[in-house]
Amino acid sequence: AFPTKVRIVEMGARDGLQNEKAVSTKDKITLINALSDAGLKDIEAGAFVSPKWVPQMADSAEVIKALDLPHVNLSALTPNLKGAHVALDAGVREFAIFTAASESFCQKNINCSIDESIERFSEVMTFAKANNIRVRGYVSCIAGCPYEGDIAPQKVLEVTQKLLALGCYEVSLGDTVGVGTANKITEVLSLLLQHIDKTKLAVHFHDTYGQALTNIYAALSLGIATVDAAVAGLGGCPYAKGASGNVATEDVVYLLNGLGIEHGIDLQRLSNAGWQITQAIGKAPVSKVAIALHNT
Ligand code: HMG
Ligand code: MG
Repeated sequence: AFPTKVRIVEMGARDGLQNEKAVSTKDKITLINALSDAGLKDIEAGAFVSPKWVPQMADSAEVIKALDLPHVNLSALTPNLKGAHVALDAGVREFAIFTAASESFCQKNINCSIDESIERFSEVMTFAKANNIRVRGYVSCIAGCPYEGDIAPQKVLEVTQKLLALGCYEVSLGDTVGVGTANKITEVLSLLLQHIDKTKLAVHFHDTYGQALTNIYAALSLGIATVDAAVAGLGGCPYAKGASGNVATEDVVYLLNGLGIEHGIDLQRLSNAGWQITQAIGKAPVSKVAIALHNT
């Protein structure tokens, strides 16, 4: 059954901007404040990763230190202990650790095997617990991998269970390349839901093939109540060539409105935030809803 309320985790400032060159620190801060004003309570604000790997996120500490949003759950990627230390110091309230259901993707993305990633994360987890920080997990490539093609749902289950066993309060399931269609997503989620409570799962869909919203509908129908999305459909992954951004938050909010599902977000303000950041980087939103609201 559909949930009555959905929590949207906003990815625009991290997943959205990690692939965009030359976005100023000031524009990032303006974006996150505008997202908060639109009612978003869970905002991934940056990534404490190697600046050699992803230079776009090198100013994450500066961005987060400049925010004054006590009522917002500000999270950031922390792939290792080094990142976790800097993140905590900057004022991050939730860590996110990330691995994959595909060995090749894991290697290309974080330079280690899936098992090694879990070992690294256990140090991050210990540090997080000692500092009262909750930790979210990500599994990439749940519906396919840019290097390996098809991924067995069983593998997604195994990796998800490892992250939960480490102590993640929730695991976000990434269709990193956006190749999944509704039946595939339903197959993977149905397997996971046989073993894992639905309150511990989130979906994180990229829209490369235009399937993200349909896939979210499939996930909602199975009772999943946490959805990752990026304002204006910003983004892409530097280690998944050709993959486009996350599903647009505006489009998800419009869908939820139609389904009568609560979300707490002001769609017009959200759309304005999307127009503002995309104009700052010389683009237009990749969101049909944002464009429609602008033209009507
Ligand atoms: P490595 O090279 O194996 O690590 O990278 P290392 O420990 O050997 O360190 C190498 C250098 O990086 C050293 O510097 C470290 O100090 C530095 P050097 O001595 O050469 O000058 N370093 C760091 N600097 C700052 N912050 C850190 C840090 N760690 C090491 N935390 C590492 C391993 C994980 C760091 C690297 O592979 C990395 O940063 N990868 C980036 C991955 C990334 O950000 N990918 C995009 C986000 S994931 C995604 O988009 C998917 C998701 O959205 C879900 C989905 O869509 O599926 C989440
Ligand atoms: Mg992603």
